[in-house]
Amino acid sequence: MYNSKISGLGYFVPDNVVTNDDLSKIMDTNDEWIQERTGIKERRHVIKGEDTTSTMGVKAARIAIERAGLDKDEIDFIVFATLSPDYYFPGPGVLVQRDLGIKTVGAIDIRNQCSGFVYGISLADQYIKSGMYRNVLVIGSELHSAGLDMTTRGRGVSVIFGDGAGAVVLSREEDNTKGILSTHLHSEGAHAEELSLIAPGMGKRWVLDILEDNDPNDESYYPYMNGQFVFKNAVVRFSEVIMEGLKANNLGPADIDLLIPHQANLRISQFVQKKFGLRDDQVYNNIMKYGNTTAASIPIALTEAWELGKIKEGDLVVLAAFGSGFTWGSAIIRW
Ligand SMILES: CC(C)(COP(=O)(O)OP(=O)(O)OC[C@H]1O[C@@H](n2cnc3c(N)ncnc32)[C@H](O)[C@@H]1OP(=O)(O)O)[C@@H](O)C(=O)NCCC(=O)NCCS
Repeated sequence: MYNSKISGLGYFVPDNVVTNDDLSKIMDTNDEWIQERTGIKERRHVIKGEDTTSTMGVKAARIAIERAGLDKDEIDFIVFATLSPDYYFPGPGVLVQRDLGIKTVGAIDIRNQCSGFVYGISLADQYIKSGMYRNVLVIGSELHSAGLDMTTRGRGVSVIFGDGAGAVVLSREEDNTKGILSTHLHSEGAHAEELSLIAPGMGKRWVLDILEDNDPNDESYYPYMNGQFVFKNAVVRFSEVIMEGLKANNLGPADIDLLIPHQANLRISQFVQKKFGLRDDQVYNNIMKYGNTTAASIPIALTEAWELGKIKEGDLVVLAAFGSGFTWGSAIIRW
């Protein structure tokens, strides 16, 4: 059995900065409300036509592959996590294979929303552990702004989410005291609809029903979030799954060098930080600049933290996520 380590990492965010004041010009909201509830000051939105979920993923992936010191043809497998794919099908994994010009390796798409990246690296880790693959590209990318209700009706959701992509290359590590020590994944489908986007789906309303209704006020095309219920579940699940990961490795909160929580809401991160008694410099947050970028948030934050020199060899880095599904997970990494 091998371990897997992060051998390269990169991110891409669109240049277009959208501040809270910008949003207050198109809906009934304000900077104070958004910052007080979420910590968000601004986010990035793609300018239509300039990028898609897959093209942002490709840009982040190129940086990650280069930093791993690999040729693109040394990538053995592609994992792509997103809730905002370019197409309903096929998923963006194959678009990355095409756009990077990688040989015909396997590509898989992960539909686990905010936990998508943690699920993705868990999957990649298993392939590497088993010896099946040596280098796996894992991407998280989201183009939320294309599908949000940017009117007052949608303000409870639309002010929170932003666009961007992050990517890592996981590579074989022979020393099993290093790299990804463990991942823990969970789901609770009882709350599936509490944070969801129902259309276009093949559930109770089929595509033909939607076409027949032809209703411009159809809200099922927009994400729905029961904010307070999500918040309450998030703080409990984040804490549980971090402890689960630490315990499985005979570690405790005092061993954490850097916690990178999924950037759901600054208040959630602060709650978790307090619960584990971590200092400000032991938790990396960038939701203030980018909003919640769902599957992209952890790889963007991880890359930024690494670029800022906040991660040193031997550090214990903990990743944790919670989101729609509900799904949640953690990864314990010895850098
Ligand atoms: C979404 C969230 C910020 C909302 O905060 P909240 O304190 O629960 O606010 P509520 O939804 O109860 O709304 C309070 C009021 O603000 C209003 N409001 C909602 N969005 C608003 C906005 N963007 N600007 C101004 N007012 C807004 C509501 O209409 C409501 O008004 P009312 O009291 O007159 O009815 C909060 O619930 C949250 O962060 N939840 C977790 C979300 C999350 O992390 N999601 C990602 C999971 S991966």
